[in-house]
Amino acid sequence: MAKDSRSTLVSLAVNPVTLLGVVLTTTGGVLWLILTALEIFDTVNNPYVGILLFGLLPAIFFAGLALIPIGIWWRRRQMAAAGRRVEPLAINWQNPAWRKLVIVFTVATVANLIIGSSFLLAGVHYMESNNFCGAACHVMYPENAQYRISPHSNVDCVACHVDEGLGGFIQAKTNGTLQLIHTVFNSYPKPVPTPVHNLPPVEHMCLKCHSVNQNYGSQVIVRKGFAEDDGAATATVLNMHVGGGANNKGAHGAHLNAVTMEYASDEKREKIAWVRMRRADGSVREYATPDWNAGKRTGLETRTMSCVDCHNRAAHSFESPERALNQAMVLGRIDHTLPGIRKRGIELLKATYASHEVARQQISTHLADYYVKNHPAVAKDRAKQMDQAAAALYDIYSRNVWPQYNLTWGSRVNHLGHNDSPGCFRCHGGDLTSADGLQITQDCSVCHEAVSMDEKNPEILKTLGLAQQK
Ligand code: HEC
Ligand code: HEC
Ligand code: HEC
Ligand code: HEC
Ligand code: HEC
Repeated sequence: MAKDSRSTLVSLAVNPVTLLGVVLTTTGGVLWLILTALEIFDTVNNPYVGILLFGLLPAIFFAGLALIPIGIWWRRRQMAAAGRRVEPLAINWQNPAWRKLVIVFTVATVANLIIGSSFLLAGVHYMESNNFCGAACHVMYPENAQYRISPHSNVDCVACHVDEGLGGFIQAKTNGTLQLIHTVFNSYPKPVPTPVHNLPPVEHMCLKCHSVNQNYGSQVIVRKGFAEDDGAATATVLNMHVGGGANNKGAHGAHLNAVTMEYASDEKREKIAWVRMRRADGSVREYATPDWNAGKRTGLETRTMSCVDCHNRAAHSFESPERALNQAMVLGRIDHTLPGIRKRGIELLKATYASHEVARQQISTHLADYYVKNHPAVAKDRAKQMDQAAAALYDIYSRNVWPQYNLTWGSRVNHLGHNDSPGCFRCHGGDLTSADGLQITQDCSVCHEAVSMDEKNPEILKTLGLAQQK
């Protein structure tokens, strides 16, 4: 034998493809180790580092790994084609050089396996992080912005969006991959479509933390604000009947206690044509629109009613301009004594801007212009309050309206209520009747006592001791 097999392998390995493979693998591996260390010590906090760590670097690493044998194989073919004698890569344990090579190879493979599998594990873990779902994936910025100010801001996205078990895992990963491809090619529908068709069943979602057996009784909801004409303090006060558990009154009492409700609607669930209520005692009652009864049923889907048919905005509760502005004024972020601020504020919030940046500038200049023109004394003496108001208005605008994703006021309907969208009135609105002529109730007080509706300084606030509170 002219040369031993090891040097044959070495000479085979010295080819551009294999060398490129070695360089890629080492670069990918080393950069990954460094970035991982930085991540562990929390020095970088950027969602794109995640994509680099769990997307790009592993791709480089594995591509390099694959190139190494490809290069060797290619070189062998080349040499054979050139008529050069290629020694078979026979293992010869007697040869110390061979033994060394095998040990080096084994150690390298084990190291690669460890690095490779931690890539995979970390990648899977990262893809379940809120950073990946909400921050690296652009089209979900709006959902993420609302999520962060929702009561569920500490609940991971995957707790609600990914079902338990292997099925949910595989579904989430295939969806996630498709979504990632859409995002990379910027081909994602904007805004992201709702309803989410593959939301887990509520038993695996909301009911991990909440219970249908809880009696919430009646709850006083107080929404304060300021009148548009004279800026006087106003309040809407509802005594909302929620019930549930042993209490079969109210929204939970009527809908969750031993009742199954199915309904048929358009895909967006905004127009409901038929409802069937089945009680535990077996009694059934159906309500339908005249169209449904006349057999016009195309394009309708049937679903079983659950938590998210009312609480569809539990984690992403986009606001209405009026309610958001009232809240900012009640909290003092916008000085309610600025003359005309409520009317002008709503106009500025509802205006159309090309982007967030344009909105930020124009809200500020248009508000200033308004005061210079109509209330010069305010413009002169209360510049600070004006700036604060402009900043707060921009804040409201930018978390609710996203021109780049075609998302504006009202794009995301909230089914809990009936003021900004039909909500409860999709069924309770009087369009549906039963065969014996009954309607689903529209009686205000069955759902809530409307104690005060935008009344100025209502007496009830003093009675409840809430007049001075935010
Ligand atoms: C408490 C449960 C919950 C959590 C936590 C949650 N979501 Fe949602 N999400 C929902 C529900 C419910 C819907 C509406 C489903 C429907 O109407 O079909 C939804 C809808 C969406 C939609 C569709 C667009 C829309 O607004 O209807 C996106 C995108 C989304 N969520 C992303 C996220 C991201 C990103 C996170 C984490 C930052 C997250 N969600 C956390 C429950 C949740
Ligand atoms: C991981 C646990 C968890 C999950 C999952 C969860 N919630 Fe909650 N939810 C909470 C907690 C805790 C609160 C109380 C938060 C607070 O008051 O600060 C809450 C509050 C609420 C509230 C009251 C909100 C308010 O404005 O006071 C509603 C309604 C609600 N959840 C509905 C849902 C629905 C619907 C789902 C399923 C889509 C869901 N939750 C999933 C833990 C959870
Ligand atoms: C028919 C509509 C409807 C359905 C279905 C429904 N809810 Fe509610 N829920 C309400 C209304 C109305 C309130 C009163 C709060 C409000 O108006 O803001 C409420 C209140 C709540 C609250 C807050 C109670 C509190 O402490 O103030 C929680 C938590 C909640 N619901 C969870 C759920 C869960 C979990 C489910 C599914 C098992 C569910 N709801 C199904 C209408 C509904
Ligand atoms: C999918 C249709 C549907 C939607 C949406 C819906 N309901 Fe209902 N609701 C019904 C039906 C059906 C009944 C039972 C009527 C009967 O007793 O025959 C009912 C009954 C009730 C009752 C008891 C009425 C009574 O006479 O005792 C209350 C309270 C109630 N709903 C509250 C709500 C609230 C609050 C919402 C919105 C957050 C809502 N519902 C949304 C279909 C719906
Ligand atoms: C099927 C149940 C139901 C019926 C019937 C009903 N409401 Fe409501 N109403 C609700 C729910 C749920 C909300 C939302 C509470 C919330 O925002 O948390 C609401 C909210 C309101 C609000 C507050 C709006 C806001 O922006 O804060 C007013 C005012 C109101 N209802 C008045 C009425 C009046 C008046 C009637 C009778 C003509 C009526 N409602 C009938 C369920 C009902």
